[in-house]
This record gives sequence, C-alpha cells and structure tokens, in this order.
Amino acid sequence: MKKIIIDTDPGHDDALAIMLAVKSGMFDIKAITTVAGNSSIENTTRNARFVLKLLNREDIPVYSGSDRPLKRELIKAVVHGNSGLEGLDPENEPNLSGDAVEKILHIIKKNLGEITLVTLGPLTNIAKAILKDRDNMLNLKEIVIMGGAIKVPGNKNRVAEFNMFVDPEAADIVFRFPIKKTLIPLDACNNVRLFKKDFQKIENENLRIPVISMIEPYIKNIAEEEGVDGALMYDPLTVYYLINPDCCRKRDYDIVIETEGEHTCGMTVAELRLKKSVSNNITVVEEIPEGKFKEDFIRFLSMS
Ligand code: RIB
Ligand code: CA
Repeated sequence: MKKIIIDTDPGHDDALAIMLAVKSGMFDIKAITTVAGNSSIENTTRNARFVLKLLNREDIPVYSGSDRPLKRELIKAVVHGNSGLEGLDPENEPNLSGDAVEKILHIIKKNLGEITLVTLGPLTNIAKAILKDRDNMLNLKEIVIMGGAIKVPGNKNRVAEFNMFVDPEAADIVFRFPIKKTLIPLDACNNVRLFKKDFQKIENENLRIPVISMIEPYIKNIAEEEGVDGALMYDPLTVYYLINPDCCRKRDYDIVIETEGEHTCGMTVAELRLKKSVSNNITVVEEIPEGKFKEDFIRFLSMS
C-alpha cells in the first residue's frame, strides 16, 4: 500500500476524497493534517474528524495546522457553507493540536523515501515544513497537489485556482522545492461532474445517506456561485490519480507562481512558448477519464 499523508481543508470535495482514499483500501494513511482554506481551521479540523468517524476510521490521526496563509489574511471559499460541510454541519469538537507541521516532518523521518504527501488545500503547512526542515522534506517520495489552472480560467480570479490563490507565497515555496511533484489542475477537473443520481448509486447506506445530505447544498452552491451544473470533484480526482495513474494523460511543465499581480495573484504560470531550454519542475495531469473515475468512485464508496 502507498504510504500517504493527506493535507486538507474539508470542504465537501475534500470529504469525498478522504472517503475514496479510505474505501479504496490502497493507502496506508499515516495522518490527516488540516489547514484553513475552504473554512476556518476549527471547521476544517472538525469536519476531518467527522468524516473519519463516518468511515469508522478514527484510528487515523488528525493533526491541525495553519489557521491562515503565510503572509495574507484568510479568504475562505463560499460553496462549502458556514460550517465548511453544509448539509452535515458537524458539531463535534475540533480538538486542535496545532502540530501538523511537526507531525509531517516526524512521519517523513520515520519513513524515509516512502511518503507521498497529498495536498487538497492551500499549501501553507507544506511551505512551513520546508522552511522548518528542508533537508528532511527532501526525504519525501512525492508531493501530489490539487490546484492550479494551466490552459483554462481560474475559479477564484480570472486566472488563479483557489488553493493557489489563498496562499501564493506558500505555493511559490513548494513549486520551487526540488522534489518530485505532480499537479492535478482545473484543466483535468472541470470536465468531471457528478450529480445526485450518481451518488444515489452508492450501495453502502452508511455513506450514501450523509453523502446525499451534503452533496445537495454543495451542488446548489456551485450552481449559484460558479454557474456550473453538478458536483465538482477536484480533491477526489487528486486521490484517484494515485489509485489509477496509468489512465491519466500527463505532461511535464515549467511552472512558476505569480505572487504580485493585482489581477493575476495565485496564477500557475506555465512556460508554453516553444522554447528549447525549459527547466520542467512538475508533472501535470491534463486529463482524467470521467467515466472510469465515476465508475471506480461509486464502486469504492459502495464497499462495506
Ligand atoms: O479549487 C478547488 C480546490 O479548492 C479544492 O481543493 C477545494 O476543496 C478547495 O480547497
Ligand atoms: Ca480542498
């Protein structure tokens, strides 16, 4: 099994991604670390604990991390509602530990060369870990990142995707870091939408009932806020890349992060000119087949 840490800001799609990672049975999840992004650190940590309880996997440790970006004020998402998981609105205690960065470093040190860091939110915790112990972070196997927009518009400003937009300084540190990185951007995610009828196919009613409760407001909020029909599956697609990498179309790019632009802050700026000498720093997943993802996602979540 792949040894992973999931850094996340639940968030409806984060919650579905955690469900997929657990139910796939393909991962040794060493920890879930939380970050502020879709909602406050209290909410994202509360929601992560709630999802693990739903999955009967409270054995997976949850360590809370950054409550705001490195240098900026936190700008939260809208589509996840006030609780960050509208429709379920968990009321359990967040039990903030505040030690996500230290725990990420500790787990890497105990599993040299074996840990894949899966990031589903702003990259604040990851950047802090690099700043705190750069040499140890080089012992990571890979960082797999949900975020960015390469050849499509942004979803938080004209050009920037939310996770990069919230903390561009953190993203800049991570993208410059010389470790194997794979990016699952909006380019791969925009074309994959699930609808209530898809989620109703989940045969495991312990999951189907809460998933339907949370997916209805998520779909409604996306339609109102973004004019898009259906549930966008950014984070589950990122986990799915690790489940089925061979079905994904990929290409290496030289990408830098815009941290200054009045209209472009958070943009993942790819070198697209027909230049000879580029220094590719990241593999980008350009396409994930919607049908295969849907089939496998429902199949895994249906497992008892
Ligand atoms: O832009 C989509 C990303 O931002 C997803 O990870 C979503 O959960 C939010 O964190
Ligand atoms: Ca997320």
